[in-house]
Amino acid sequence: MDLQQVRNDLEQRLPQKRYEHVLRVTEAAKELAKETGVPVEKAEIAGLFHDYAKFMDKEELLELLKRDEEYELYAQYHSELWHAPVGALLAKERYGIEDEEILQAIRFHTTGRAGMTDLEKVIYIADLIEPGRKFPGIEDLRGRIKGQSLEEQMTECIQHTVKFLVHQYAVIFPYSFDCYNEHVRRRKEQ
Ligand SMILES: [Fe+2]
Ligand SMILES: [Fe+2]
Repeated sequence: MDLQQVRNDLEQRLPQKRYEHVLRVTEAAKELAKETGVPVEKAEIAGLFHDYAKFMDKEELLELLKRDEEYELYAQYHSELWHAPVGALLAKERYGIEDEEILQAIRFHTTGRAGMTDLEKVIYIADLIEPGRKFPGIEDLRGRIKGQSLEEQMTECIQHTVKFLVHQYAVIFPYSFDCYNEHVRRRKEQ
């Protein structure tokens, strides 16, 4: 796959700031992959495509989402979440990406889920903590995950996200709760 072509396409599709975020996520994902024994090429492709469908308009996203087997579920939740499954769909259809692990990493980068693969965790974490991210508690979170196992890093990240969303009184996608419960349970068992 010609990754330079992918970068050019992304630069055309996305606002500059989002494009730069994508490049930082990709770099962070490659680094984390290297540290944790995840295939770096897969991390690079998933990182580049993770926000491919961000900034499509809502109607177009919804049209594409209708072809997803979990359409009914996603349609009940905030449209912010739709770019993830639609991104996976377009990566497959437009770029011929067949690798299920890469497609799942794109699909679950916003919500997480129970039973995430290591590649999914890498993309989730990189998306949350890439150097351009600024949100309350980010420095603290970066400090807590530094040098930890992928599993511990994911636990910290999903805890942070769920806590944040609850604090906002936001509706939470069930897979995020599944992810949270799985990680908290595992930590308690240790
Ligand atoms: Fe995203
Ligand atoms: Fe992102």
